Amino acid sequence: MKVLVVGGGGREHALCWKIAQSPRCSELLCAPGNPGIAKVARLVPVAAEDVDGLVRLAKEEAIDLVVVGPEKPLSLGLADALAEAGIRCFGPSRAAAEMESSKAFAKGIMERAGIPTAAFGVFEDPAEAKAFAANHAGRVAVKADGLAAGKGVVVTETQPDAEAAIDEMLVGRAFGSAGARVVIEEKLEGEEASVIALVDGERFVVLAPAQDHKRVGEGDTGPNTGGMGAYSPTPAMKDADLQIVADRVLGPAVRQLRAEGRPFRGALYAGLMMTAQGPKVIEFNARLGDPETQPILARLESDLLPALDAAARGDLRGVELSFSPKPALTVVLAAAGYPGSVRTGDPVEGLDAVEEDADLVVFHAGTKADGGRVVTSGGRVLGVTARGKDLGEARAKAYAACEKIHFAGMQLRRDIAHRAFAKETE
Ligand code: AMP
Ligand code: GLY
Repeated sequence: MKVLVVGGGGREHALCWKIAQSPRCSELLCAPGNPGIAKVARLVPVAAEDVDGLVRLAKEEAIDLVVVGPEKPLSLGLADALAEAGIRCFGPSRAAAEMESSKAFAKGIMERAGIPTAAFGVFEDPAEAKAFAANHAGRVAVKADGLAAGKGVVVTETQPDAEAAIDEMLVGRAFGSAGARVVIEEKLEGEEASVIALVDGERFVVLAPAQDHKRVGEGDTGPNTGGMGAYSPTPAMKDADLQIVADRVLGPAVRQLRAEGRPFRGALYAGLMMTAQGPKVIEFNARLGDPETQPILARLESDLLPALDAAARGDLRGVELSFSPKPALTVVLAAAGYPGSVRTGDPVEGLDAVEEDADLVVFHAGTKADGGRVVTSGGRVLGVTARGKDLGEARAKAYAACEKIHFAGMQLRRDIAHRAFAKETE
């Protein structure tokens, strides 16, 4: 099978790394990719948002399966355009991808399917938004309705903070047109976990659960990011919880989307809060998580490619995935300034000093080739990923590799998986 992966971040490196190991993969292309991906795939300089360019590329190269990493091309209708051209695609149609691109749509699906989630309202008028926040004593999450790369959310504890966040989005347009409408939710209490399923429109296969670290600072402080590290499995999501998520969240969402004429084919990601009343949905994404994909795929023992292809064909029957009992952990190395505006072009040193093996791989994200060097080109630069016989060993191995890598202004959290370790010592 000739495969094209769309995107150029850490998630796409993990996808390419795994797909390249498949005996079913005859040739692997990635657009636009990055220098890490270049080791396992042929890079083609077409941007991930260039829908026409990607369809042309897939046709010219006679691609059998396109695997879409990021949300943006999905919300621009890449899957629809590929379907029209008769090319198989792992990734939902634009209509189904609204599960991510419109928080208001996702909330509607949850309401109609009876999926547990936070009480919410959708507002364009600041005064009404503030009244809703006041009903929850200012303990709310204020969210830009459109895509804001995981950063358009402010969680507040007091009414003045809630009002400031509402004004910033609705009046100050801090997130541009993505913030013209806001969703305001009651603040949920508990531990977060991510569960991702491969979906064929009707059936689904659940991947191993993971826990992300959204805040930039250690101890979960500072602003939200795309994710500073992740690990899998997580004690926050026991097998019994995973079954509840499949039965009460993923199943109902897949059935509701299908019933509403928007069958979902691709990766459906549920971001969950494990509350005292059970798991509740914080958000859905229409793609694999980043960085969650990195530790999840590091544990996947089965061949991923036939599963992606089966989901894209609409027939996951008989597909089962098995995961190594060895935990995996990813530490994100981020550029100076992240999650704000970042400096780029800093040389990345020490990559050659890291000896990769079956249990250690450095996934590239915001890197680019500059002559013979690798330089930073984005907020999240690398995702150092290790497996171990237990989580402690995975952590030690990942951080030992991080010590060898350096670039100016490099930031990392030294406490990835801290919640799991805190439980061990309870
Ligand atoms: P989202 O983009 O919707 O995933 O939100 C980003 C982050 O904000 C989440 O990972 C949570 O940490 C936090 N968050 C979002 N909604 C809520 C909520 N209703 N209650 C508590 N925290 C939330
Ligand atoms: N790591 C969270 C996400 O991919 O949205």
